[in-house]
Amino acid sequence: MTKDRLIKDVFRLMLKNRRISGEHQYTVPSPYTYPFQWLWDSCFNAIILSHLNIEDAKKELLSLVFHQFENGMIPHIIYWDREQPTDFPVIEWGREHTSTITQPPMLAYVAFNIYQKDQDKSFIKQIYTSLKNYYNFLLIDRDPRKIHLPGIINPDESGEDNSSRFDFALGLGPKHTLEENLQKRLDLVSKDLSCNFETVTCMSNFFWIADVPFNAILIENLEMLSKLAREIGKFSDADYFLHQREEIVVSMGKWMFEDGIFWSVFGQDPQKIKIKTWHIFAPLFAGLYTKTQARDLVSKYLKGKDFKTKFIVPSVATDESSYDPEGFWRGPIWMAVNWFVYKGLKKYKFDEMAKQVYKSSLNLIEKSGFREYYHPQTGQGLGARDFTWGGLVLDMYE
Ligand code: GLC
Repeated sequence: MTKDRLIKDVFRLMLKNRRISGEHQYTVPSPYTYPFQWLWDSCFNAIILSHLNIEDAKKELLSLVFHQFENGMIPHIIYWDREQPTDFPVIEWGREHTSTITQPPMLAYVAFNIYQKDQDKSFIKQIYTSLKNYYNFLLIDRDPRKIHLPGIINPDESGEDNSSRFDFALGLGPKHTLEENLQKRLDLVSKDLSCNFETVTCMSNFFWIADVPFNAILIENLEMLSKLAREIGKFSDADYFLHQREEIVVSMGKWMFEDGIFWSVFGQDPQKIKIKTWHIFAPLFAGLYTKTQARDLVSKYLKGKDFKTKFIVPSVATDESSYDPEGFWRGPIWMAVNWFVYKGLKKYKFDEMAKQVYKSSLNLIEKSGFREYYHPQTGQGLGARDFTWGGLVLDMYE
């Protein structure tokens, strides 16, 4: 597929999924399955839009922060208009217009990327306080143990709703249905409602995981936030966020690293969850592995048999008992995962491997279009249609 063709197809998709609500503009992940605004999806959408029209990318981020909570949290779903035909479950979040949980914090990274393209300081000034409050919420509220390892209160906060990483914490075995998994997560939301989504109670009683991708993403974003702060003259903020970044880096090494891999941890007294999912590659995105560790990781796992499928990168290693090539976050390929892995590989200058990830992504789009996820052996498109994440290939185009 030529770059021109790809740009045209992505542009058409982004326009199809664009929604306007009063002064706000945002992009839905998929018109029927996900007809609302999602947090990390909008960050991906802004990355895609930054290749098409930089002002649209800014609008996407600004619409996200409009519904920020007083405590700084940015919700993972915004229901600008609830009356949409959809099969997405009706969930009681205790709020009318938003959910009450968050998603991986990609905002600062995207804002910095936008800034790099047009040096528009007024946009950064406009969004900076929201960003600062959001990252502070994660650094303070979500780290009640004060061990510099922010946690998530529900699997959906990871963006990988039913990933095998969360089975144990939900009291599920490696094989169960998507409905059983969803029921557990909905039960969790009801329990969290009963304690008002207040972090300490919710985490200590119901679900407390410090997740690898979430923290790796946070680390990379704190660096970008620090750069943004410096650009607009907020030097003490810049130092503060860099310091916080460093604290989490150290803490991830202390609590999560074993046998050459970072593992998510569970519980108040953090225990490693040794399930191999794509998350083992997420720390490449933040440069957390040493060069040697990264080389070993890539040759043993990404090039080795565990993650070797016809199309890459499967979301769960094929030798895990939970692996299911059609099982939502339990095996299929997701474009955002490929994008994170691609960026991580580029960071370490593993250009050849990065190219393979990019090519596989492009092949999937050529073969099956813009779908939510893909079968790693057949490349068949699965889940939602007209799903925007495939547009991230524009950001990998070589
Ligand atoms: C699914 C995905 C989640 C995404 C949402 C909207 O729930 O697991 O990551 O944000 O759909 O696309």
